[in-house]
Amino acid sequence: MIPERQMLEDLAELRRRDNHRRLILSPGLDFSSNDYLGLSGHPTVRRALIRELEAGVALGSGGSRLLRGNHGWHERIEARLAAFRGVPAALAFNSGFDANVGVLSTLCPPGGLVLSDEKNHASIIDGVRASRAEYRVFPHNDLDAVDRLLRGHAGTLPPTIVTESVFSMEGDRAPLAELLALARRHGAGLIVDEAHATGVFGPTGAGLLDGLETGDVPLVSIHTCGKALGGCGAFVACSQAVKEYLVNHCRTFIFTTALPPLAMVHWEAALDLIASEPWRRRHVLALAERLRTGLRGVADCGASTTQIVPVLLGSNARALAAAAGLQERGFDIRPIRYPTVPQGTARLRIALNATHDEATIERLIAALRELIAATAAA
Ligand SMILES: Cc1ncc(COP(=O)(O)O)c(C=O)c1O
Repeated sequence: MIPERQMLEDLAELRRRDNHRRLILSPGLDFSSNDYLGLSGHPTVRRALIRELEAGVALGSGGSRLLRGNHGWHERIEARLAAFRGVPAALAFNSGFDANVGVLSTLCPPGGLVLSDEKNHASIIDGVRASRAEYRVFPHNDLDAVDRLLRGHAGTLPPTIVTESVFSMEGDRAPLAELLALARRHGAGLIVDEAHATGVFGPTGAGLLDGLETGDVPLVSIHTCGKALGGCGAFVACSQAVKEYLVNHCRTFIFTTALPPLAMVHWEAALDLIASEPWRRRHVLALAERLRTGLRGVADCGASTTQIVPVLLGSNARALAAAAGLQERGFDIRPIRYPTVPQGTARLRIALNATHDEATIERLIAALRELIAATAAA
């Protein structure tokens, strides 16, 4: 273990670099959670949970899915999730992190090649490393680079491309149709992390792959339930063969206590709301568009086209000062710094929420304009 003295020196150094983190309670209106549709406290979800609690639903699963932890609710929700995504099968995981690490390390063994977008989430990076497959990181959304790397591949196993569909810190999207075309042309597989698209994008809210022509490309998608679904956990959408293979080989699925059935009750109620209240996804995206328009000319929001709007500020000190100013004005917006984003690209990450109204966004725009100018001058 690292000696505590060394830990304290490290923490002091983080403070000197304005890069020290601490846990705080939510300071104000939510512009930083991933509860994009406002379902984490929705009365319909609460009622469903109360109903099932009163009916005697198990509070804990009791073990791994392969032992006594497999309940009727797991099977029922997996059938519903497969239908939601329009694929043959779905498999629940305890978190998106577990799902990414498990899927990548199980489906991409040593001897294979994985091409991973440079902006991919830490759980994808850890999954790729855990797979012990050869991997190449390609520049963000660079299709020519992917094409070049696939053309140069001469291994025996088909290569795999892995990307997020909505990038969590940029708020932009992957060119999924083009990546599918490249995968088809080169006989590659595609793994898509739909963490931030699930519930928000697609004709039925199932994500950005929904409605795309996927043909015969081996395709696996990861969907988290702790973001727009407002709960916790995740599921993998795939073929029956991939599901059965994961059940037999995936360590983050096998060697852990399954989520309690109560989590699945939440998922089902959230899926019902996503189906019956499509206004939520339209509204959250409209608010994000209004925010970007209101900041045009004063803030750099990168290539955001989604409910995630970054405001790029550069230095840690500037991101910290702007976030503190916003929190004083009642907006819970957090600074995002290295190592979550590259050095020198510190930012505010503004996550819109369907529970907000237009007037709140106008107030936020005014506060941001003022603080961006003030922190630039400082
Ligand atoms: C793109 C992406 N994938 C996976 C995860 C991990 O999901 P979870 O929070 O369910 O572990 C996150 C979480 O922030 C994420 O942003």
